[in-house]
Amino acid sequence: MERTSIELVERWKRIPEGTPVNALHEMAGLTAEIIARSVFGNDLGDDSAAAVTEGFTSYQALVDSINIGYFLGFDDGLPIFRTPTLRRSVSRIHRIIDKVVEDHLSGRGDHNSMVELLVRRQMKSPELKLDLVALRNEAATIFMAGHETTASTLTWAWYLLSRAQWVEEAVHAEIGRVCGNRIPTIDDVPQLELCKAVIEETLRLYPPVPILARQTREAEMIGNIAAQRGSLVLIVPWLLHRTGSLFEQPHYFRPERFMGGRRPTPYSYIPFASGPRVCPGLHFGLTEAVLCLAIIAQQFRVVVASTHKLEPVCRLTLRPKGGLPVTLEKRSGTPRADR
Ligand code: HEM
Repeated sequence: MERTSIELVERWKRIPEGTPVNALHEMAGLTAEIIARSVFGNDLGDDSAAAVTEGFTSYQALVDSINIGYFLGFDDGLPIFRTPTLRRSVSRIHRIIDKVVEDHLSGRGDHNSMVELLVRRQMKSPELKLDLVALRNEAATIFMAGHETTASTLTWAWYLLSRAQWVEEAVHAEIGRVCGNRIPTIDDVPQLELCKAVIEETLRLYPPVPILARQTREAEMIGNIAAQRGSLVLIVPWLLHRTGSLFEQPHYFRPERFMGGRRPTPYSYIPFASGPRVCPGLHFGLTEAVLCLAIIAQQFRVVVASTHKLEPVCRLTLRPKGGLPVTLEKRSGTPRADR
């Protein structure tokens, strides 16, 4: 995470000040690289990393569902692949992932990657036949679920910070206090209380997964509504998180809701879902978002024009329509990396 964020900051330093940049695109590239390195290993070549990212991006542009696994064809029931372009991008992703898995199986992969963990888990139970397709699907699901969501969170965080200068200044002050003139590391994350609160409040106002879909196994009473067996139930964090009886001034950006031990009422705040299908990447995603925010905010202000009108749209995740056009303003001082 640190290395990839620092690479982004270094690249941004070479962009002339005032050049328009799409923050959503930048954050998607950053989180794709982080998850690609974590899932597939650091030795995934640049070409393969780019092909996986492009493949998923073109896939996402062509599908419009909320169940990532199902519509990628990695969950129960294959979707109908609607166009040759879509089929091509999926089979390209499959080919690259298969190659990575094969490398791991023959002992050539990065030992710190998630694929390596999956391969080892499979190998520990030789009585179960090694299921390459399942392995590929798990790796791909983690990639897809872990990349878009964090990119969307960071993009919305930049938007909210640019509209609340007093919070942005407090974020800069906190990073200065905790890290001095060295680049934030993963060990600083527990001390970056405001940065974490900014991310949590961003997830409240703009939950990357704004609708959760469930199906009743049996006939149920949900409140005073009778749901028949097999009914589709939609839980909408987008609405829940903005309910006035649960959150004071629900439409306001107030990170202090999450500071000093304050937490929302149980089940009123579910950006990572809840229950048996809670997001398994919760800690990874939160840590990643806080660390990326701190590393970038230490060196840059991400400025959204005051005239910019933003429209949220829900595709696989909740994102600003057309991305988020910003300019980058270099902050003074060059911090040093400790490692
Ligand atoms: C801020 C970032 C993230 C948010 C807001 C988020 C949110 C969610 C939500 C709401 C679900 C449940 C969807 C449903 O039940 O319909 C989910 C599932 C999932 N997430 Fe995340 N996620 C984030 C980051 C990550 C990361 C970084 C990873 C991987 C490292 C990840 C891996 C997964 C996986 C594999 C599932 C499917 C679990 C299952 O089907 O049981 N997520 N995520």
